Amino acid sequence: MAKRIAILTGGGDCPGLNPAIRGVVLRAAREGIECLGLRGGWKGAIEADARPLTPACVAEIVGKGGTILGSSRTNPFKREGGVEAVLKTFKTLNLDALVACGGEDTLGVASKLYELHGANVVGVPKTMDNDLSATDYTFGFDTATTHAVEALERLRDTGRSHGRVMVLEVMGRHAGWVALFAGIAGPADYVCLPERPVDVKDMVAKVKAAHAARGTALVVASEAIELPGEGGGAKELDEFGHELLKDRGVAQRLTAVLEKESGLEVRSAVIGHIQRGGPPTLFDRILGTRVGVKAAELVIAGDFGKMVALRGDAVVPVSLKEATAKLKTVTPAWLDLLDTVTALQKTPEAATA
Ligand code: F6P
Repeated sequence: MAKRIAILTGGGDCPGLNPAIRGVVLRAAREGIECLGLRGGWKGAIEADARPLTPACVAEIVGKGGTILGSSRTNPFKREGGVEAVLKTFKTLNLDALVACGGEDTLGVASKLYELHGANVVGVPKTMDNDLSATDYTFGFDTATTHAVEALERLRDTGRSHGRVMVLEVMGRHAGWVALFAGIAGPADYVCLPERPVDVKDMVAKVKAAHAARGTALVVASEAIELPGEGGGAKELDEFGHELLKDRGVAQRLTAVLEKESGLEVRSAVIGHIQRGGPPTLFDRILGTRVGVKAAELVIAGDFGKMVALRGDAVVPVSLKEATAKLKTVTPAWLDLLDTVTALQKTPEAATA
């Protein structure tokens, strides 16, 4: 059985990482297994930069946002000698296994280390984007989207005071889950998602109707959307070859379109990294704990090359390769639900219901 496990957290941080770290450490401790934390994601694995993780270290971290281990978007497969350095770290730190907590990118590295080099790795899915296909939900999503819903409620108050339309830009990369859930729960009058083109005519009709009925209107926009007539410009990429979506100015561009087409006064806000900070919600604390504990159990069982997934109410192992093969984007059934809750109400009875 394993005697020493390392844990790392890679990619964008999110609430729930600390509960997951705690889960691994406490479950491992029950078997007398020692844990180390690698600092700064795969960077720490390349540099063998580790710190001890005892049960005492993790005793109170379940309610803390961020990650006590730090994070980065380092890709060992894109660094000269990076993979060899990670494999050497297994030897120098005397590791029997590594638990990698991350999204598509971090887990993609874990998958390749297992497939190509036989490394003893287990994956824990995290991302506020909720875009990993093998799991129903990732921790971080619930907290981040709750912040977006709260932001919408604030925007509604000030929007109504001034008779303005308010636009909220949210993160989520190329999957619209954060915008979708925030828009349904907010509620918003129109939601712009990367999964389908923005229908300006429909958006303006809904915004005008909401403004006429309630004195304000709310629009949620996911950061990766293109507006009609846009797209094709040069893109800045990260080490994983993904487009950096910062500073795309979606909210401002959408504001300009809405002002021109509706004739109403429009203001926008970008919630950005505020979504990723702060204490995890109850859901993220519990999910993080469960997947962390399960990851330690997979290590104990020697079941490597797996990611822990939430399926229904169960946490189960799935192949890391399959888990990272494609992104989970918003499905037609969810779009249909969104269309139901944002539909223009045609009858007076419905409007006052
Ligand atoms: O993947 C999580 C995420 O928050 C995305 O929604 C966003 O596009 C990206 O990270 C931002 O990355 P960074 O923190 O590197 O600016």
